[in-house]
Amino acid sequence: MRAILRLLCAATLIGSLANAGSAMAEEPTAIESRVESLLAQMTLEEKIGQLIQLSNVGDTTGPLPDDEARRRNMELVKAGLIGSMLNVVGVEEVRIVQDYAVNNSRLGIPLIFGFDVVHGHKTSFPIPLGEAASWDLELIEESARIAATEAAAQGLNWTFAPMADISRDPRWGRVMEGAGEDPYLGAEIAVARVRGFQGRDLSRPDTIAATVKHFAGYGFSESGRDYNTVDFSSTTLFNVVLPPFRAAVKRANARTVMNAFNIVNGIPSTGNTFLQREILKGEWGFDGFVVSDWASGLEMINHGFAADEHEAARLAMQAGSDMDMESSIYLEHLQDLVENGDVSLELIDDAVRRILRVKYELGLFDDPYRYLDEGREAAVLLSLENLAAARKVAERSIVLLKNDDHLLPLKGGEKVALIGALAADEDSPLGNWRAMSEADSAVSVVDAFEAAGIDFTYAEGAVLEIGSAGFPDPVVVNAEDRSGFSEAVAAARGADKVVIVLGEDARQSGEGRSRTRLGFPGVQQELLEAVTEANPNTILVVMSGRPLVLSWADENLPTIVQAWHLGSESGHALTNVLIGKYNPSGKLPMSFPRSVGQVPVYYNHFNTGRPDEIPDVFWSHFTDEKNTPLYPFGHGLSYTSFAYSDLSAVPEGEIYSVEVTVANTGQVAGEEVVQLYIRDRAASVVRPVRELKGFQKILLQPGERKALRFSLGPDELGFYNGDGEFLVEPGMFDIFVGGVSTAELSTSFSYEPR
Ligand code: NOJ
Repeated sequence: MRAILRLLCAATLIGSLANAGSAMAEEPTAIESRVESLLAQMTLEEKIGQLIQLSNVGDTTGPLPDDEARRRNMELVKAGLIGSMLNVVGVEEVRIVQDYAVNNSRLGIPLIFGFDVVHGHKTSFPIPLGEAASWDLELIEESARIAATEAAAQGLNWTFAPMADISRDPRWGRVMEGAGEDPYLGAEIAVARVRGFQGRDLSRPDTIAATVKHFAGYGFSESGRDYNTVDFSSTTLFNVVLPPFRAAVKRANARTVMNAFNIVNGIPSTGNTFLQREILKGEWGFDGFVVSDWASGLEMINHGFAADEHEAARLAMQAGSDMDMESSIYLEHLQDLVENGDVSLELIDDAVRRILRVKYELGLFDDPYRYLDEGREAAVLLSLENLAAARKVAERSIVLLKNDDHLLPLKGGEKVALIGALAADEDSPLGNWRAMSEADSAVSVVDAFEAAGIDFTYAEGAVLEIGSAGFPDPVVVNAEDRSGFSEAVAAARGADKVVIVLGEDARQSGEGRSRTRLGFPGVQQELLEAVTEANPNTILVVMSGRPLVLSWADENLPTIVQAWHLGSESGHALTNVLIGKYNPSGKLPMSFPRSVGQVPVYYNHFNTGRPDEIPDVFWSHFTDEKNTPLYPFGHGLSYTSFAYSDLSAVPEGEIYSVEVTVANTGQVAGEEVVQLYIRDRAASVVRPVRELKGFQKILLQPGERKALRFSLGPDELGFYNGDGEFLVEPGMFDIFVGGVSTAELSTSFSYEPR
């Protein structure tokens, strides 16, 4: 029998007050006593008020309230019967509402103002999936810090980010908002983002509370259709879905968590006691508050979990959903539920305490106008420094997928044809969650080519979108107009090289933007084929919010660059990569499928009982497609090359010290993301064929070599079983190190936990 060491998440039982210091200036005990004394003065109605969040009118992130709703909202604010608003942005606007709360309500409790600050606020940064491709945790933290500074300058003190949902399905439009398919990378990035938003001291006027969302499993929507049913095993829950949330809460002290629209094991997340009370608030000791997703409490009726609004309010509160976003179920029903004894006052008090605690930490009781300074608002929003940072992050988010004939970098003196509507687009690069970025404010590739002095001709080729969709509107794609093809083909013929920019409009990924066909929308594929025929020296640049199926391009083109939606400085960042001013270093955070039929296709899959290719058909495969993705997780090329050698794993007590040497074997300096994967050959619960357990991003000059060290201990070698117990078992482990998840350099060791 195998000896099993059960580390029953001992660390998780430590109260979160112990780690709360990173985001608080005031002593926790001082805050706790202020919370208690305020709570003691509150009526039941006022307490319930703190649990209610309503949206501003004019909002664009959900079904819109009407004018009457706005009047009603302000009356509620004045009466002290609302705890928070979302989508109220700008010092002037926020001040009006905060004034109502502070000066009219009996206890003058300030509101907390939330907004979706997801990838930048005024300055747009790359979409989170793109930013994740940088694997640069410092820069990712910096990007969130800048977003927080800008948002806080506009009166906000709370963002609904980061999204920590792991997803393996590029059909799901919200993959753009996460960090991809891997729980280890996802956890590191969630931690970096929370730290960036919250800083070291939450009470500073340039830091804001983060929300780790959507708790939990939203990224597993069946068939990638948004809001769809979710159904996965408990081992997937503990090993894949929860780790980024756990890390964000326990390591970065995320102050709020948003639950989710989906069911988990048949129970809607909003009404899920196991997730919210047992795991989050119990095991993990989370002492911030949970906000529902937009009306997700009410949606429990549609799920068939609650019979009516009354029951929905009861189930959500009992399960630990502290604040109700925009559905009125708490507003209309909680008082009655408490008075009838269906919901205990203790539960209400617990939820109110959590919300007041975060408000105290933000410094709102000391100065409700702390975030309201017109001078700061004007100064911060004009920052050129922030644009420079956005460019830096954007450069590092670009992934060179293929560069067979070394068409890139472009050389001086070459005549280039630049083709595609997205090349001139100043809006799509801003991405889907562009917060307060001005429409059409991104630097296009056309403008950046001009600024860089490239000798080029531009031809649109084909319009991508007919009209211009707003946040809630469907996109109408041009599926017929090919009138610009001939001009594009002529431009391609007359050039040394072609750069063709194709992909998705910003509104084709994001919430409610699921797709079943992952090729280029509209007539773009036809344009690509016509242009490639005219000039085989064609470089494809893909702007998209998700992995697209690039199989035709991979077979027919030598060079492909994945450029996501890169934000305000998109054009400059891309141009710098295309001309070699910045040597690309991005690595895919999500596998790119060969065809939609393969989805979900991800690197950390299980082996199956029949993994090996045999002559007959009885092995795990497709009869018409390979099993492997087109571009695997961790893939990304450089203008230089790297060689890996001298891999060793040496025991040092309970830890294995892994060493490897990486050399730059090319002609130019370059950054490499060195990735460490493990495989647990046999365990009491089957383990994936590979799991990322460490990475380092390093810069090497031509000819330079560096020895790197990683360590693997119980945290990396253990796993959760279906009961949520963390197990560290003895046995053989393989390790693989390289610049991609398919890295071949490997060694193995036998592990014996102490
Ligand atoms: C619904 C989305 O699912 C959530 O992520 C977002 O924060 C809210 N709407 C508020 O806009």
